Amino acid sequence: MVKICCIGAGYVGGPTMAVIALNCPSIEVVVVDISVTRISAWNSDQLPIYEPGLNEVVKQCKGRNLFFSTDVEKHVSEADIIFVSVNTPTKTRGLGAGKAADLTYWESAARMIADVSKSNKIVVEKSTVPVKTAEAIERILTHNSKGIKYQILSNPEFLAEGTAIQDLFKPDRVLIGGRETPDGLKAIQALKDVYAHWVPEDRIITTNLWSAELSKLAANAFLAQRISSVNAMSALCEATGADVSQVSHAVGKDSRIGPKFLDASVGFGGSCFQKDILNLVYICECNGLAEVANYWKQVIKVNDYQKNRFVNRVVSSMFNTVSGKKIGIMGFAFKKDTGDTRETPAIDVCKGLLGDKARLSIYDPQVTADQIQRDLTMNKFDWDHPIHLQPMSPTGVKQVSIAWDAYEASKDAHALCILTEWDEFKTLDYRRIFDNMQKPAFVFDGRNVVNVEMLRDIGFIVYSIGKPLDPWLKNMPAVA
Ligand code: UDX
Ligand code: ADP
Repeated sequence: MVKICCIGAGYVGGPTMAVIALNCPSIEVVVVDISVTRISAWNSDQLPIYEPGLNEVVKQCKGRNLFFSTDVEKHVSEADIIFVSVNTPTKTRGLGAGKAADLTYWESAARMIADVSKSNKIVVEKSTVPVKTAEAIERILTHNSKGIKYQILSNPEFLAEGTAIQDLFKPDRVLIGGRETPDGLKAIQALKDVYAHWVPEDRIITTNLWSAELSKLAANAFLAQRISSVNAMSALCEATGADVSQVSHAVGKDSRIGPKFLDASVGFGGSCFQKDILNLVYICECNGLAEVANYWKQVIKVNDYQKNRFVNRVVSSMFNTVSGKKIGIMGFAFKKDTGDTRETPAIDVCKGLLGDKARLSIYDPQVTADQIQRDLTMNKFDWDHPIHLQPMSPTGVKQVSIAWDAYEASKDAHALCILTEWDEFKTLDYRRIFDNMQKPAFVFDGRNVVNVEMLRDIGFIVYSIGKPLDPWLKNMPAVA
């Protein structure tokens, strides 16, 4: 029986291994992690991450051929194929601070693999890492090999949160990079055989190591670039009276462009886009490609501009001050259908409003109060460390309260800010909300989810990203 071990039971490792286990009953899959609470949660009925469909998949194979354990060394030593899916934070100090990836957790996983292995292993990079990481890992392993042979593969994961299970069941492609040597090709084939249980062969692409590593960074950079492009357009739409939804619909009808990833928003978030672009920028700079680095940097600058622009809209619309005013924050996760808050635009927007002394009442159907307090007190980039190493927030932010539902968050508020596109925000009883708010009552829709006309008819002053401006907002300064 082939044995797979995955180091790192997070958003990538957990769902990916569950789908492998379900589709490959002949393979034993063990997911290991240093976090005791994370592993206990995987072993309970309350999984540590919220992902539609994940519960059902895990239920079917947990205890059969899918296991979760903290006994990292035992399962690594027994495995034939080891996936590494650990944190790769952005460095906050030293060389490359604010840009380069910090490979501390990767390196310690590699050294541990070298320490405990007694048989040949295929080691698979699953977390996104800078190009040439595989080479560095290969060096660590071969210099500590004790006669054991290692093959390193890069098999980047393209799943998006919220749709992880369907992405894993029907991937657009599976990418496997490896050495173009006989042993390298054999390792590629072994991993291909795993995916071939459910992925059509023509969707499994094989490349050399560097191409696979770079493709992941490039794919995320291209996706983020589309969002920054449409967000840049949203500012121009507001200035000219065009409607960004109509513009992106018309643009996306061009089959060369396509309709996806053209929704204007308060900004993109998530654990990958910003981190991967910063990484790409750093790699370009290290290779003397300043123009290329600057090109990609602009994608992040526009994203920051979009978040600032939103905060400025809120403050300037409300007579240039939100001091002491209650603002209901609708949604905190970085997108709908996930409880993940990593790099969510809500953090920057909330911090911006708190900077102007607003009182915030935050509601998100999937994010815990603890997580919100932690996010609002954490330094930039500190989120990407194993949970037990993340700083706690002993006090929390005083001007922030957490609400149980949208109605509580909006009660007596001067304004609502919609920061995540949860479906339930489309069908709220906005008449009831209006009646319970201070007047004038504002709605700032950072995700274009509300029916603007209907809300204006109720009496709200409405701002919706990239849409023709409410007369109230027309003469207010909008830029950061
Ligand atoms: C992304 C990539 O899509 C995935 O392939 C990769 O493996 C990891 O990074 P993820 O971050 O989970 O996935 O979610 P994604 O759906 O890409 O959304 C990222 C951010 O962009 C979210 O904040 C989302 O709200 C925002 N977004 C997305 C927009 O603002 N507009 C869009 O049109 C699409
Ligand atoms: P991703 O979104 O890439 O899955 P996460 O942060 O959700 O990232 O998950 C990474 C996991 O890796 C965390 O649960 C963390 O505890 C775990 N981890 C980090 N370093 C090690 C290690 N050396 N051994 C085992 N697990 C590790």
